[in-house]
Amino acid sequence: MQRVLVTGGAGFIGSNFILHWLKRESSSVINFDKLTYAGNLSNLRSVMAEERHIFIKGDINDRELLAKILESCQPCAVIHFAAESHVDRSIHGAEEFIQTNVVGTFNLLQEVRHYWTQLEGDKKRSFRFLHVSTDEVYGSLGPEDPPFSETTAYAPNSPYSASKASADHLVRSFHHTYGIPTLTTNCSNNYGPYQFPEKLIPLIIHNAISGLRLPVYGDGQNIRDWLYVTDHCEAIRTVLNRGSIGHTYNIGGESEQTNLDVVKGICSVLSCLRPGPNYESLIEFVADRPGHDRRYAVDISKIHQALRWSPCESFLTGLRKTVRWYLDNPDWVQAVTSGAYRDWIDLNYKSESGRAMAHGR
Ligand code: NAD
Ligand code: DAU
Repeated sequence: MQRVLVTGGAGFIGSNFILHWLKRESSSVINFDKLTYAGNLSNLRSVMAEERHIFIKGDINDRELLAKILESCQPCAVIHFAAESHVDRSIHGAEEFIQTNVVGTFNLLQEVRHYWTQLEGDKKRSFRFLHVSTDEVYGSLGPEDPPFSETTAYAPNSPYSASKASADHLVRSFHHTYGIPTLTTNCSNNYGPYQFPEKLIPLIIHNAISGLRLPVYGDGQNIRDWLYVTDHCEAIRTVLNRGSIGHTYNIGGESEQTNLDVVKGICSVLSCLRPGPNYESLIEFVADRPGHDRRYAVDISKIHQALRWSPCESFLTGLRKTVRWYLDNPDWVQAVTSGAYRDWIDLNYKSESGRAMAHGR
């Protein structure tokens, strides 16, 4: 039986990917995850008893363990999601981002290189290392700039995006220098089920349902290109199965929205699904994120033309599904918003050094 190794498979996109993969492919998944605050095995409850899903707790910096797993499981592909992923956390402290996103990716690449070098014949020819990255490596766009393409120069602006850009460069170099059959995907903002409520969309849904203020950074006019998570998972599966070795593929939703429109959109969906409160009255403008990128937008021509991938969900259909999921899964939300979550919210939104309310808007 063929196996793929997924790093970070207990996180938001990784767990959605595993659920999606098991429905569409016959191969098994080895899910390798450190279970940081962002990793949550309950995301995978429906497949925990399945033979085709094997969970192993571990850190991508543990080279010995990685070597053992690669040797014993003999995966035909590695799909690398594991990362520290929240920009605001990288601004408060970047060390974990360097350790996992840069050093960890390097350690993983070294072990994959060792494993791949020993493979022979078809096993060697068909092996792939797919690195899951972000559109943030390209920096910030002006209002009239064309969307990011695969040839846009890298210009990362936050410690998070700099760490992801470093990882992308390492992946590129391991292909160029050692011939590792790599693929890299650079995707825009995802949303959907199982997203940790530190990110804009689940945070706003959670706060609105709880009657808490809805914090909008700066003037709320920053723009992101939103993609429903299952569309991202299908894009990764497509690139893995049919992408050209050594290539990078940009992935996006062709759905640019200002943050304020996203927040108002959530309020409007909530007003239909759970009518009553005036959700929009909870909106509050708060101090801006330092170095806040103004606009992201992704040109998906390459993946569309070469691999025939395009998103299925519109922002409205995806948002309705997402809000419904959070309303239907209060236990999941409650479990992840206890303890350490509250410490983060205090640090980012309430403390002296955190995000004071912006006055006069
Ligand atoms: P997430 O924070 O929800 O999940 C990250 C997962 O990685 C967690 O399960 C965590 O336990 C695990 N992990 C962290 N450090 C690890 C380590 N040292 N060893 C093993 N596992 C470790 O992140 P996400 O939003 O699901 O993002 C997944 C990947 O996709 C990341 O590489 C991110 O940069 C990229 N990405 C995310 C988005 C987005 O909008 N969320 C968009 C584009 C790209
Ligand atoms: O573009 C892809 C990236 O999208 C991924 O690589 C990252 O892992 C992912 O976290 C995401 O980064 P962003 O910083 O764009 O996402 P976030 O949800 O943190 O913020 C989205 C926008 O909303 C951003 O402009 C900041 C703003 N925001 C965010 C929060 C948490 C607010 O206005 N208020 C908030 O409370």
